[in-house]
Parts: sequence; C-alpha cells; structure tokens
Amino acid sequence: MSLKGRSIATLQEFSPHEIDLVIDRCFELKKRWREGERRSSILEGKYVCMLFEKPSTRTRIAFEVAASSLGAYPIYASASETQLARGEAISDTARVLSGMADCIIARVRSHRTIEELVKYSTIPVINGLSDLHHPTQALTDVFTMFEVKGRRKLKVAFIGDGGANTCHSLLICCSKLGLDMAVACPSEFKPKSDVLALALKNAEKSGSKIEVVEDPMAAVDGADVVYTDVFVSMGFEGERERRMRVFLPKYQVNKRLLEHASSDYIFMHCLPAHRGEEVTDDVIDDPEHSAVWVQSENKLHMARAILSLLA
Ligand code: CP
Ligand code: NVA
Repeated sequence: MSLKGRSIATLQEFSPHEIDLVIDRCFELKKRWREGERRSSILEGKYVCMLFEKPSTRTRIAFEVAASSLGAYPIYASASETQLARGEAISDTARVLSGMADCIIARVRSHRTIEELVKYSTIPVINGLSDLHHPTQALTDVFTMFEVKGRRKLKVAFIGDGGANTCHSLLICCSKLGLDMAVACPSEFKPKSDVLALALKNAEKSGSKIEVVEDPMAAVDGADVVYTDVFVSMGFEGERERRMRVFLPKYQVNKRLLEHASSDYIFMHCLPAHRGEEVTDDVIDDPEHSAVWVQSENKLHMARAILSLLA
C-alpha cells in the first residue's frame, strides 16, 4: 500500500493500518539513523516548502533535518515575510507552491488554512500544527509510547487543556489504534465536541475506551502514560489570566498526582513546557519516568518517516 501523495490534515483521514505503516517506517528509520545513516537519496531532487505562521523549534528543525537527510531540499518561509502577510489568498499561494515544490509543511493559526491548502494544492500538505490539530506530534507521541512501553494496549491520561491541538490529535490517533485515553480538564476547556465525536466513533471500531472527566486523579488512575501541554497555547495569550485561574493548581502534573498512575508510568509533553505551571521540574526532569527528551528526538524520526512515505 502506498501513501505517496497523501496529505495529513487531522489523521482522521488515515486508517489504523495506514497509521501503523507510518509507525513501522519510523521504527525502521530511527534504527538506520542510530546505525549512522545521515544521508539517503530517496527524496533526491525534491523540494519541501515549510510555510510557518507561528514559531517553532522542534517541528521546524525536525522537518528541515529530515528533508535534507533524505536528499530533499527544505525551504523555510515565515508567512509574515511572504505575500500572505499582504493579503494574497491561501488558494493562490497553494497553487503557486504546487508549481515549485513537492510537499508543503504548514504551521497555521487557523485550521481553515490547512483545509484550504489541502483543497488547492496538487502536492501533499502536512499539518505542522493548527489551532485545532497537531497530527505529526500525535504520531510522534504514539511512536514514543510504543517504543518505550511496548506496542500494546496502553492507557493514556491527558491532563489540562482538553481543547488543545495536541489533545485533539491524541484523541484521534489513540482511538484509531485502540489505545485507551482519559482526558481530565475543566468543564470550559473540554475537547471540541466534533473531535470527541470522531474519537468515540473510532473507539467503537478499535475497542478503545475514551473518557473525558474533570478529576485529574480519576484520569491518571492506572495510567501508563501521563501527558500534558501548556495551559496557554499559541494564539490564546489574551486568555492567560483566566486560564491560570481555572487550571491552577488542580490540573498541574506533579508528583502527588502521579502517585495515582501505574508504578512504571511515563511522563510526556510535546514541549515547549511552562515549568511550574502545567508541570513541575521534578516531574519533567525525572530520569526514571520522564520520556520528554526521547519524545522530542522522535519528532525527527517521525518527520523522516512521514516525508519518506508521503512526499
Ligand atoms: N512540539 C512542537 O511542536 O514543538 P515546536 O513548537 O517547537 O515545533
Ligand atoms: N498546544 C501548544 C502546542 C505547541 C507545540 C500550542 O499550540 O501552542
């Protein structure tokens, strides 16, 4: 089965088998990277356009290194320095980039922009984060869970902003693959109802248990993976004060909360972290349980897997 030419907007458009193929490729490419492979020619002569409306450390570097290591040439364009900033239509931009490059990685403010790019491009478009979804992160995260905990049914607890892009994408990815997921969040920061509906529908097929609760201890109970993200995602800075009042102290991931997790739990965070807010230093720096550094390295291996299969 070939995934060549496919776009990734939310991951809902991928079957569990197709997601498994991406994860298999990631295992293979990480092994090769570990064995010293830094250069292959499978994407020789291809151009990867990276159109970013928001800052990025991990996603940008991962895809730039990934593209170069596979023989492709990455071109980074901050959207603010393109004609998009002066009002050029996304549909026109999509057509123009399709004539010059072989793949687009886009990080955007509004998920509508991803949908427009996918609609008007004739080359694959990879969502590198929107306000609603972060699918390449969820693929990285599930790969990391399988790598560290084994490829089996796991319980994932997500604590904090249930409406965050990371939580949405994990809901979709976990429910497709049969992983259980419990989201603990305040009532006004629940996952979007349409995303939750998709996850529940996926779960009916895969056998996942998906739940949304308010009590973090109930979500963490027996969890193999405890995951959090910032309380104030990019684009929501104006809500900072209100969010801090609602999320703290109840939704902070600290050692006290983790007493309820499985004894061999791993802690995960997409990063960047706001230490002292959604997570304490002793949790993120815990050498026994924190998987955040291997998780961040895995963004590179997943970027290589995605580009090698789709571009
Ligand atoms: N996790 C993640 O997407 O990080 P960046 O914002 O640094 O790309
Ligand atoms: N939810 C965070 C993820 C950053 C990688 C944000 O959108 O800012």
